[in-house]
This record gives sequence, structure tokens and C-alpha cells, in this order.
Amino acid sequence: MKTEIIKFEGNENDKKYLDKIKKTFENGGLVVFPTETVYGLGGNGLDAKACKKIYEAKGRPSDNPLILHIAENSQLDELVEEVPEVAKKCMEKFWPGPLTMIFKRSKLIPDAVTGGLDTVAVREPSHELANKILKATHLPIAAPSANISGRPSPTKTQHVIHDLDGRVDIIVDGGKSVVGIESTVLDVTVDPPMVLRPGKVTLEDLQKISPDITIDQSTIDSTNKKVPKSPGQKYKHYAPKAEAICFGGNIDKMVLEIQKNIDKNIDKKVAVLASTETIDRYKNADLKIDLGSRQHLEEVARNLFDSLRRCDEENVDLIFAEGYEPIGLGLSIMNRLLKACSGRIVMRI
Ligand code: TXA
Ligand code: MG
Repeated sequence: MKTEIIKFEGNENDKKYLDKIKKTFENGGLVVFPTETVYGLGGNGLDAKACKKIYEAKGRPSDNPLILHIAENSQLDELVEEVPEVAKKCMEKFWPGPLTMIFKRSKLIPDAVTGGLDTVAVREPSHELANKILKATHLPIAAPSANISGRPSPTKTQHVIHDLDGRVDIIVDGGKSVVGIESTVLDVTVDPPMVLRPGKVTLEDLQKISPDITIDQSTIDSTNKKVPKSPGQKYKHYAPKAEAICFGGNIDKMVLEIQKNIDKNIDKKVAVLASTETIDRYKNADLKIDLGSRQHLEEVARNLFDSLRRCDEENVDLIFAEGYEPIGLGLSIMNRLLKACSGRIVMRI
């Protein structure tokens, strides 16, 4: 299939582009569009065939459910059985934005979206162009992250082109994603509600709405291990080609430990994912990537997936990544890093 790449220009052509995207969705086609978190691989969420195509394009197992994307709160009602009070409060505070909520699904939703579950994930992105596209189609758009399954989520058009050129009808070029990691997923079908995937909207943010909100411990449990964990099947995610190891604990000890590992692997091509505060302290690494300041974890989140892809482009053998304190956005960053590292973490307290 020939993939068309569309860039909105802020002129009269934009209407033409919107019409084309709308028609593509209506005809069961696939359109990659930017959101504030990561790029999404979209298809008509009410069309089982279109959803099947999404799984094929991504190479994703079809029992891993998709998120429906909507433009306005009013679209939610027909997609779900009920909207619990806590969800209403979260919508008010965080929609549109990087929060996905899991609801009891309505009869309208095909099994292809939910992988046969009786629940459905819905989110309302805040990205201006995403919102325009979703408004124009008036359909709930099923969209997983627009990467080949198992690869880091795409935060730039080049990432999408690399993974999906020839596999989708249209790719909308929307520049760099502002948040850089996928949305927070909150299950509001359970009491108390539970965070299944941490994101930009943090557990602490959510607990301000309802203090009893919890988090699925499996999203963070690797951070408790004091020895490197052996790779586990369930961590096959965000995986760069190189072997990656994350280091945590006291910053000075962490820097020393990483340097020791660089020195031990002088015969290999080594990359370090560091912070602005520490990057100059590393010597002899083949590639040093500054993810941003520890004082501004939004920068680190924004640059994380791009840095993993850069390591692939540069064909590095080993990636040593600095860890972050697992609170607030730091927890969401650690969740992604640990998956990229297949759970391998070295702590020096
Ligand atoms: O930021 C995002 O959420 C991006 C952009 C494109 O919106 N999308 C995204 O989709 O990350 P995806 O498919 O890569 O991740 C969706 C996550 C998966 O971990 C999936 O298992 C979970 O949400 N999920 C979806 N529906 C669910 C359900 N009914 N119950 C539990 N988990 C669900
Ligand atoms: Mg994904």
C-alpha cells in the first residue's frame, strides 16, 4: 500500500485534508495522527474490520485491547454502560488530556476493540490537530500507539514512517509529541479505581480527585529489586535492539556505577541516557544522550522514546540508563525505562 504523508498548513488545503481523512476512516482505512502523548494508529472503532487491520499493521496480538479516542465528552455516553461519579470528576479535571479511563462497554463496541473484554478504554486527546480530526470524523477512533508492536512508541513523524510506511493509508505529520509517553490508564470499573499504566497524569494528581485511587503494583514492582532482574517475557516492550540496563539509587553512586560499566565494556558500543545535571560526568561512552533536567521531568518523558530509537539508529550494543525517583512523573518514566530494560535494574543506595 502507498502511504500518503499529510502536513496541515494552516490554509485552505486543510479542509481538503480533513475530508480525505474522514473518508479514509469511513471506508475502513487507517490514519496515523499525532496526539499530545504519542502518535496513534487510528481506525473506525465501530468497524471490526478496521480494528483487525490495526492489529495487523502493528503486528499486535488481538487480545490486547485498543483505546477509543473521542473529540467531545458527549460522545462517551453511547460507548459505555455507565459513567461513575469519580470518572465524571476526572473528566472535568483532565479531559481533554493524557488520561484514558476504562468503563463498562456498551453494546455498540465490537469485540475487536476490547479483545473480548466487557470493558472499554476511552480517551479525549488535547492535541489541537487530533481534536480537529476526531471532530471532523464524528466517529470513536480506535488508536493504539503507532509503532510496530514491542518497539518504543513514536513521538515524531520519522518514527512512524520508520515503522509503518506502506502499512497505513495516511500519516499526519504533527511534529514532536509534547508529553512523549502514553496516557495514564485508570480503571474506573473497580472500587477503588486503579491506575493500570502511569503517565503524565500522576497517581498523586488523581488522588487529589479521590484519595483512595490505587496503582497496580506490577507497574512499579521492579523498582524494589536491589539486584538486576533477569529478562521476563512480560517485559517485552519498548525494546531497543541493544541490551539496556537501568541504574538507580543515590545519584553519585549511580554515576560511578555507570562509569564502571562503561569502562568494563570498552570493546562494545555503549550509550548512556543521562540527565542534564550528570551528563558531563561520563567519559568514553560512544553516545551520550541528555534526556533533560531532573528538575523538569516533563523533558525527560518527552525525550525518552526518541532516545531509545536513536540508540537503535546508531547500532549501539549496550545502553546504560539513569533511573529516577519513582514518584510523580518519575514513576511513569521508570515504568517505561524498566520495560525497555526488560526489568533489569541495578540499585546502589
Ligand atoms: O497515549 C495513549 O494512550 C496512546 C495515544 C495514541 O492515545 N495510545 C496508546 O494505546 O498508548 P496502546 O494500545 O498502545 O495502549 C493501550 C493500553 C494497553 O496497555 C492496553 O492493554 C490497555 O491500554 N487497555 C485498553 N483497553 C483496556 C481495557 N478494556 N482494560 C484494560 N486495559 C486496557
Ligand atoms: Mg503501545
